[in-house]
Amino acid sequence: MCGIFGYSGKGNAPEIVVNGLKRLEYRGYDSWGIAYQKKNKIVLYKKAGEIGNFTCSRIIPKAPIAIGHTRWATHGRATKLNAHPHESVDGRFVLAQNGIVENFQELKSKLISKGYKFNSETDTEIIVRLVEDNLKKSDCLLEAVRLAFLDLKGRNTIILLERDKKHIVAVRNGSPLVLGIGGDGIYFASDTLSFADQTDRVIFLNDFEMAEYDNGKLRLFDVNSGEEILYKEKKLPQNSAGIGKEGYDHYMLKEIVEQKHTVREAVQYSQSELRPLIQAIKTAKNIYVVGAGTAGFAAGQIAFFLRKYGGIHAIELKSCEAGSYRNLFSKDDIVIAVSQSGETADTIETIEFAKEKGAKIGSVVNMIGSTITRMSDYGFLSRSGPEICVASTKAFTAQISWGLLIAKAVVGKYEEAKQSIYFLSEILQKFFDQKLFIQIQEIARRMVNIEHCFVLGKGQNSNIATEGALKIKEITYKHFEGFPAGELKHGVIALIEKDTPVISIVSNDDDKADLYSAVSEVKARGAWTIGVAKSKNDLFDDSIILRDAGIADPILNVIPFQLLSYFLGVKLGNNPDKPRNLAKSVTVK
Ligand code: G6P
Repeated sequence: MCGIFGYSGKGNAPEIVVNGLKRLEYRGYDSWGIAYQKKNKIVLYKKAGEIGNFTCSRIIPKAPIAIGHTRWATHGRATKLNAHPHESVDGRFVLAQNGIVENFQELKSKLISKGYKFNSETDTEIIVRLVEDNLKKSDCLLEAVRLAFLDLKGRNTIILLERDKKHIVAVRNGSPLVLGIGGDGIYFASDTLSFADQTDRVIFLNDFEMAEYDNGKLRLFDVNSGEEILYKEKKLPQNSAGIGKEGYDHYMLKEIVEQKHTVREAVQYSQSELRPLIQAIKTAKNIYVVGAGTAGFAAGQIAFFLRKYGGIHAIELKSCEAGSYRNLFSKDDIVIAVSQSGETADTIETIEFAKEKGAKIGSVVNMIGSTITRMSDYGFLSRSGPEICVASTKAFTAQISWGLLIAKAVVGKYEEAKQSIYFLSEILQKFFDQKLFIQIQEIARRMVNIEHCFVLGKGQNSNIATEGALKIKEITYKHFEGFPAGELKHGVIALIEKDTPVISIVSNDDDKADLYSAVSEVKARGAWTIGVAKSKNDLFDDSIILRDAGIADPILNVIPFQLLSYFLGVKLGNNPDKPRNLAKSVTVK
C-alpha cells in the first residue's frame, strides 16, 4: 500500500507534498517522510506515526520540488529509520516505494556480495542500491532506474528525486501512479483525489511505464524497451475534489449518512448502458463475483442477488482464494470484480488469471480511472464519491445496490430494482435521527467491556451479518463474528454463556422463523439478544426496529452495524477513520 506524492512547479513544493500525503494517509499511516531540494542538497524529513496536523511552516523551508511518502509497513518496523524516502550513499537521489520487492532476499545477497551496505530494514533500500549499482555503468539516472526496475519482482511503484536538477522519475507496476498536470506545476501521486482540488487534468500510467519530469519537460517511457511513448491527458469529473468532513467529527459518520444519496447514485445506469454486461452474464458459462474484505462480502451479496433474482448460477470467490481455482476459468466465463479502490492486489491478480484464460471482466469500482476499471470489458462506477474512512460503508451499500439492479435487469425487472433502491433512499432520508443515534449509543455503552459478539443472518442477510461484524471488528478491535444463523447449533453455540451479546438480523421473509429459532436457542442459554428487525418480539432484550425495504432490505440492514461500529469505536477512544494496522487500499499481497 503506502501513498506516494511528488510535486515540481511554482508554489511551495514541501507544503503541497505534505498536504497531498495527508489525503493519501488512508493508504497507510504508520510513518511518513518528505524530501526536498535545498541549495545543492536533498534534505529529508521523516517521522514515525501519522502526519496529523503537521505543517511545514518554520520547520521546512520553501522549495520548488519535493517528493513524499506515507507508509504501511511491510518490510521493517514503523520507525523513522525505515520511513521513506531513502537516500543513495552519495546523496545524488532519494527514492520512495509503494509495493513489495518479492525477490528482496536474493537481490540483497547479491548486493551485499558486491560490498553494498544497508541502513534500514526495508526492501526499498534494495532498489536504491540497485540504481546506484547501475549508475556505475552509465551516469544516466533514468536508464539506471529503468534497469533496476526490471530486476524487481512483485508489484512496485517508485518515485525518485535527483539532487542537482529539477528532476523526478517515477515508475509503475501494479501499484497505482497518476500524474496531475496543473497550470503551475506537475503532481505525481498514488491517486487523483490527493491533488483533485488543484487540477482536473490527469495522465494515468499503465504498468511498466515510467514518467520523467526534467526541468519542466514531461516524457513517458516504456520500461521494457526504454522507448519514449505518447501519452494522453484525461479530465476528471467535476465532483472529484470534495473531500472535507463537512461538519462531522469523522469521515466515517459523514459517509454513513451520505448513504441516503449514494445508494441512488449507484443505480443511475440506463438499461442500454447495462445491456452489454447483462448480455455477457446471460451467455456466460460461469459467472464468478470476486472481491476482498468488505468488497468480498459485497461480491457475496451480488452473487446472492444474481442467484435469487436473476436465476443465474453465480459463484462468489474471495480474491485471495481465487488463484486456487484458476484452472476453472475459461474464455466462456465472466468475472465480476467488486472493489472500492480498484487497486486491490488480490483482486487484480484474479482478473489477470481470468484474462489469461480469455474470460470477460465486469466490475463495479468507486475510484475513477483505477486499474480494475481499466482492465474491465464492462466497467461500472459505484459513484459514491470519495470514501476516506478506511472502513468501507457507503461503497458497500452502493456496490450491492448496483448488484440488485443487475440481478433484476437480467430477468427484465430493471425498473422494479431501481424503484426499490429509490424507496430505500427515501427511507434513509429520515433514518439518521437523534432517536436512532441515542439507542445505538446506549447499546454501544453496554458493549464497552464485552469481548465477543455474534451476529446471525440467513439468506439475504447472511453476507450482511458477516459484513456487519467485520465493520465492528475493524473499528472497535473487539471480536464480532457473523455467520448464517443455521450454523449456530453446529458449533458456535458452545461459546454462548450468560450475557453473551447476539445480534440477529430479521427481515420479513421466509427465513424469519428460522431466525427466531436460533434466537430462542441462544436466549435459553442466557445470551443478551438484540434484534435488527421489522417489529418487536419478546425474544429480543433490545430491538432496533427498521422499516421494511422490500428487496432492498439487506442493504438497509447493514447500516445499524455501521453506526454501532462508529459509536462503540469512538467510546473506546479509537480513531474510526484510521483503525490500527489497516489501510484502505491494499496494493500488496
Ligand atoms: C482493505 C480495506 C477494506 C477493503 C478491502 C478491499 O482490506 O481495509 O476495507 O474492503 O481492502 O478494498 P477494495 O478497494 O478492493 O474495495
